[in-house]
Amino acid sequence: MNGPERRIEEFLSLTSPARAPYKHTRHMSPIRRIQQEHGIVGREAELTLALAVLQADRHLLLEGPVGVGKTTVALAVCRHLGRPTIRVDGDDRYTESKLTGWFDPALVLKQGYQPAAFVEGPIVQAMRRGAVLFINELNRMPESVQNVLLPALDERFLILPQVGEVRAAPGFQVLATQNPVEYVATGHLSEALKDRFEHVALAYQSADEERAIVVAQAGEADAGLVREAVAIVRETRVHPKFRKGASVRAAIAMVAIARRLSGPDALRRAAVAALTTRVELRDDAETSLDTVLAEILDALKKK
Ligand SMILES: Nc1ncnc2c1ncn2[C@@H]1O[C@H](COP(=O)(O)OP(=O)(O)OP(=O)(O)O)[C@@H](O)[C@H]1O
Ligand SMILES: [Mg+2]
Repeated sequence: MNGPERRIEEFLSLTSPARAPYKHTRHMSPIRRIQQEHGIVGREAELTLALAVLQADRHLLLEGPVGVGKTTVALAVCRHLGRPTIRVDGDDRYTESKLTGWFDPALVLKQGYQPAAFVEGPIVQAMRRGAVLFINELNRMPESVQNVLLPALDERFLILPQVGEVRAAPGFQVLATQNPVEYVATGHLSEALKDRFEHVALAYQSADEERAIVVAQAGEADAGLVREAVAIVRETRVHPKFRKGASVRAAIAMVAIARRLSGPDALRRAAVAALTTRVELRDDAETSLDTVLAEILDALKKK
């Protein structure tokens, strides 16, 4: 064994994986191992592709609806490769200098524009250290910030005022996540920026897999409760009264809350608490979330 593979082995032997001891996972395929070590349910195809993109030294864009598992998959692959990761969370008020860095005014007054007075932003840190820059919600970043990435991604350099040229060390890669454009508060990526990423799409998982995720995360819970909570969130994605449905994150919350309530309507109350902030009814729905949920629960009971 040599090259990157050897480095992965060394990394794993130096760290204690989150779920299973190294000795129990070493005979497994890399994908099985990622699942085991990071508690990931399913996602074989997406993990395989994401791993191949990163190993091919390309930049990766993971796209999918809210709560589908983008951050989970991204971080697991980076950790599996033993890659240092620097994280940035995108929003529409993010600025170029937050990403690249800035000069400390007090130090500039004393010493002038010296390298020591420059506070490195995440992209400069990642480039100089050959790390993975993990950008959550890339398409929520203003276009001016997205433009900073263009030369960094393909020519592997940046030119910054008073700093000069910043070159990327080997290993520098960008791993970004985003929601599809139809979601609120998301924008488009420029053609030029898209052209620098390889794309892996994440869709909602099967009911079986979603139940397994809830069981793993919501703590000890009744199988019937898990089944109903997952059925409710899945229904919000296809029900005609909903414009926006909920992810497995809502089912995890619902089960964790319902377990702590009692009474015949525990699940309905937990569902209202977990869904009010996460779903949207259509403008012409002419009903309330409470009413729709009661109908959905009734229908489930009859099944
Ligand atoms: N395949 C999976 N295996 C285990 N847990 C999962 C899986 N998919 C999602 N989850 C869990 O569901 C929740 C949401 O996942 P995550 O935060 O990765 O989604 P996301 O797509 O990044 O969401 P957002 O769009 O809000 O950033 C987390 O609690 C995560 O642990
Ligand atoms: Mg995320």
